[in-house]
Amino acid sequence: MILEKGNTVLSVKGLKKSFGGQIVLGDVSLSINRGEIVLLRGENGSGKTTLVNILTGNLEPDAGEVQLNINGNRENFSWPRQWWKEISPFDHFTPERLVWEGVGRVWQDIRLFPTMTTLENVMVSSPKQRSENPLLALVSNKAKSEDRQNEKTSSKWLNKLGLGDRLDSSCDKISLGQMKRVAIARAIQAGAKILFLDEPLSGLDNNGISEVMKYLESMAKKNAMTIIIVEHVFNISTILKLASTVWTLSHGKVQINKTDEIMENTSNNENCLHGLLQQIAGDKGKIHTEQLPNGAKLTVANTDCLDGSQNILEVKDLVIKRGVRTVIDGFSFTLKAGHVYILEAPNGWGKSSLLDVIVGIHPSESGNIILKGEEINSLPTHDRIKKRMAYLRSQQSVFTSLNVEEQRRLSKTDGQLFNDSFNGQSKGGNLSGGEKQKLLIEMLPDADVCLLDEPTIGLDRDSIEKLLELIKQMIEKGKTLLITVPEYRGARSEESGM
Ligand SMILES: Nc1ncnc2c1ncn2[C@@H]1O[C@H](COP(=O)(O)OP(=O)(O)OP(=O)(O)O)[C@@H](O)[C@H]1O
Ligand SMILES: [Mg+2]
Repeated sequence: MILEKGNTVLSVKGLKKSFGGQIVLGDVSLSINRGEIVLLRGENGSGKTTLVNILTGNLEPDAGEVQLNINGNRENFSWPRQWWKEISPFDHFTPERLVWEGVGRVWQDIRLFPTMTTLENVMVSSPKQRSENPLLALVSNKAKSEDRQNEKTSSKWLNKLGLGDRLDSSCDKISLGQMKRVAIARAIQAGAKILFLDEPLSGLDNNGISEVMKYLESMAKKNAMTIIIVEHVFNISTILKLASTVWTLSHGKVQINKTDEIMENTSNNENCLHGLLQQIAGDKGKIHTEQLPNGAKLTVANTDCLDGSQNILEVKDLVIKRGVRTVIDGFSFTLKAGHVYILEAPNGWGKSSLLDVIVGIHPSESGNIILKGEEINSLPTHDRIKKRMAYLRSQQSVFTSLNVEEQRRLSKTDGQLFNDSFNGQSKGGNLSGGEKQKLLIEMLPDADVCLLDEPTIGLDRDSIEKLLELIKQMIEKGKTLLITVPEYRGARSEESGM
């Protein structure tokens, strides 16, 4: 893409932000041109979301300057703010004002309206709606025709992102990958000209990733949209094909590179769990992949000794509904003790619903769940956990009002797994996305059957290595694991000897 020189839409100078004594942004200066696509990367807790929060008006920096030039009028903001600016109602750097000017964002933790449909979530963001006034909504033909137009464009965005058949689905009944796509459509419908996307691809399946990337590319090309994408580990190589610039946050500073300068340092780590299965299987071990209904696969290593192992968890003819929609219709499988299974399926297949039903968080319509030979269908969740099951639930947050040490004490963990990489005094609600996931992994109880729903989500490369090490240790101790992952590119599809 040809960028007009000097066509800067956003520039930042000397931005600083600390929380307590922790300096998150030390002295950040950067700028971005109209139509430019930037990859923002950095380890867990390096300050990516903090930077996005500041630039979208959701968090006030301690010091620094921001210049905006989205619609042709240059506007300057600086911190700390002088008292006379503080009392002026006109020049505040607030999220409402920035959305109005064309700054959009997709949150790392998504934040849709859960009881509204996907279409309503997108429509609601359309600016300047006449029908917000109840009287006009009733009597004005103009308001009604605007609403119809809003519905048409909102459906078009959802269609382009592969959700054309889910316009009426309530947002609490769609999968994580589908939620991310709704959030992108919502930001576009809000009129974003600069779009911040905080980990938009994590948890998406192959189709989702290519649909989102195609969509972003066309938005950047046709509408000269400026896009900042936060991502680490997975999908970096995909984003690098689109981005021209990379901002790397580390120790409170940002390093700016052109994409081709860092291309060679980026290896694709997408198949890390499959790699782990191969390691577990060893040179002579076998890996078996079973095709499941609707494009899912269940892979297990060491098939040689499967027959000799006892059945630890059996699921028979399970039917699961979410609202009126049947998600899983008559599904059966058996887990053998001491093995690790990877359940790989497209977004919306029902991976999280299946695990929710196994632990008793969501009821099944029919079918049986048998743990160590005993039927557990009628047991509440806490009794199933007492029978030595553990569950790492996707999108499940930590206790927001307890600090890290209190949560570790509650779950009797020592915080050794991630080498105390985050502050013990931080409240759960203030942790970064990856830090929350690490704390949840640390707090997993000791159990015989562990269900891990997309455990690598939000983790940086080092933390993924540590998670893989933990999984290996669990296997060595004879635990049984069922790990869900979104559908991977180039995953194994047939039984093969190694
Ligand atoms: N409101 C807050 N109060 C106190 N500490 C905070 C607050 N928000 C963020 N932090 C801390 O600041 C650091 C940076 O957090 P941030 O969410 O920006 O990281 P990140 O780079 O987005 O990480 P991740 O990759 O895990 O999403 C973290 O250590 C986090 O615990
Ligand atoms: Mg973050």
